[in-house]
Amino acid sequence: MAQRSEGMSRDLSEALKESTKEVHAEAESTEFMMSFQKGNVSLHEFKLYLASLYYIYLALEEESERNKDNSVYAPVYFPAELNRTTALEEDLEYFYGPTWRKEIQCHEATQKYVDRIHHVGQYEPELLVAHAYTRYLGDLSGGQILKKVAQKSLHLPSTGEGLSFFNFPGVTNISKFKQLYRARMNSLPMDSATEERILQEAKTSFLLNIEVFKELQRLVSQGRLLENGHLDQHEPELHARAVNRTHSPKKTDRAQMKHNNMLPSTPLLRWTLALLFLATTIAVGLYTM
Ligand code: HEM
Repeated sequence: MAQRSEGMSRDLSEALKESTKEVHAEAESTEFMMSFQKGNVSLHEFKLYLASLYYIYLALEEESERNKDNSVYAPVYFPAELNRTTALEEDLEYFYGPTWRKEIQCHEATQKYVDRIHHVGQYEPELLVAHAYTRYLGDLSGGQILKKVAQKSLHLPSTGEGLSFFNFPGVTNISKFKQLYRARMNSLPMDSATEERILQEAKTSFLLNIEVFKELQRLVSQGRLLENGHLDQHEPELHARAVNRTHSPKKTDRAQMKHNNMLPSTPLLRWTLALLFLATTIAVGLYTM
């Protein structure tokens, strides 16, 4: 592979930023991201979001590992600093409990994104840099804003539980690390045709993220419809828009679930119980007279 060609006037990092400007704005203004930024994210939404991210990073980091010796990927291979899979596993366990693996689902748009990452990793590895750029530099930028919003709106503990995804303990200075990452991208050996394909793939990567956000929004809206029509007994966390400060969400969800299950489910049963209670009170009253 040739080094960066003479005619390539811009650095790859500048070219990436420039060519993804429009799709970045589009991603930011999706309904899902807009309500997230406004602090309107519910626990249910946040859990769905983390589950999607888990599948995406599992694929990204599997392909990253596969391609760590590829000359166009190796310079941006930073597993100790960037890998998110373990952090997401911790967060999912925190929110869903020990059975989280059985409870989460890979929905269609997330699967499409995952498939694209695997395709790239196996057949066009030079494009993997576009996927790594979109996710990791995003997490180190806007992701840090979302962390604060999530912590505040979901009342998550300041000790960081439930927010491992947003924390990068291997990066001491985010701004300096982003500079290093950009410098490494600028040093990648490639010709202009490869650079053009990377720029296209970065846009594709943003569009795949946008599809995931739209799908999450649809799932959430469907959940709300269910909530308005019939009480959805399987998704009690739909009703919990805030998390109690002193309990983990798992406990809050379970307490809510228990509370729901303790209430008789039909009006007829409720009336019968009320009448029984009334009759018992009268009988006790008459007996003690
Ligand atoms: C609410 C949503 C978002 C906000 C508020 C946001 C905000 C920002 C900000 C302020 C920067 C500039 C940081 C800097 O120059 O140091 C940035 C950069 C970036 N964001 Fe976002 N962002 C959001 C969503 C996203 C999404 C969904 C993605 C992709 C999945 C993404 C990917 C990126 C990338 C790759 C960069 C680095 C650009 C570069 O310097 O080349 N962002 N974001």
